[in-house]
Amino acid sequence: MKPFRIEPGADVPTRDAPRAYTRARRDHSPERAIARPLRGTIRSVHDDLSGIRIDYAGAGFSAADAGSDPMARFDAWFEEASELATVVEPNAMALATSAPDGTPSVRMVLLKAVDAAAASFGWHTNLESRKATECLRTGTAALCWWWPGAPGSDNPGRQVRAVGRVERLDRDASRAYFERRPIEARVSAVASHQSRAVQDRATIDARAAAIDPSSVELPASWGGLRLVADELEFWQGRTARLHDRITFLRLDEHDAVLSRPAADAAGGDDALLTAGTIVTDPHGTRWLRARLEP
Ligand SMILES: Cc1cc2nc3c(=O)[nH]c(=O)nc-3n(C[C@H](O)[C@H](O)[C@H](O)COP(=O)(O)O)c2cc1C
Repeated sequence: MKPFRIEPGADVPTRDAPRAYTRARRDHSPERAIARPLRGTIRSVHDDLSGIRIDYAGAGFSAADAGSDPMARFDAWFEEASELATVVEPNAMALATSAPDGTPSVRMVLLKAVDAAAASFGWHTNLESRKATECLRTGTAALCWWWPGAPGSDNPGRQVRAVGRVERLDRDASRAYFERRPIEARVSAVASHQSRAVQDRATIDARAAAIDPSSVELPASWGGLRLVADELEFWQGRTARLHDRITFLRLDEHDAVLSRPAADAAGGDDALLTAGTIVTDPHGTRWLRARLEP
């Protein structure tokens, strides 16, 4: 394993390599790392990754804080995330899909539409891509947002997860979004056969260059998808890894949790009903709100 590198300008004499190495090691002990920003101390996967440790000390997040409307909570956290210097694109989200045989895959996409009444999150993509094919074949997907905050503040870092069924956005909604994209992005959407293998970059560039921008219309192979959430989980970092997790599980008309994997993982209906509270959001959707162990 390589030794830690020392930051240029660090307050250790650079000629005194052994001392500098010792100090870097000491500074990176788990205890010190809590109080010390990691920036510049770990630069390579060959450094001691087990020493990277941020303590998400900060305010707690209770069921009462979560309220009875998960989409309002999402909205509030999104707004706070978009104010943070640590969050460049609050609408960037990991989209996990699975092939019909259960093989999972995950990639980033951009949240482009929220429908609070439906509890849905929309994005746009090539409908023949791997992600879209898998979404449409299985009818399900999961999303995850990570918004790093500032340890020690009221917002030490937050994660939101959503699981649900996937639907296509209607063509008019897809067209309305497509026409708002910069013309170069519209050309690229037409030019790219997303997820397919190609011989080289030049082939793609030549295909894009051959397209007359004034003729570009919404291709049949491009459009919007949305995930209608049956589960929404809000995670806020807490000190010593005892984080706060509050989940909302959509209930059917018989007050049964729609997401069986979530219910099973939570200990089954009895555990959920004992630990949880049934709440109704302003759109009339009933959710079982429960705290999960971290
Ligand atoms: C921050 C970020 C945002 C992205 N947003 C989108 C998006 O909104 N739609 C999209 O099709 N691909 C987006 N991509 C590219 C995808 O991650 C992915 O490479 C591509 O869609 C092909 O995925 P697939 O082959 O699994 O279908 C984004 C990538 C990053 C890093």
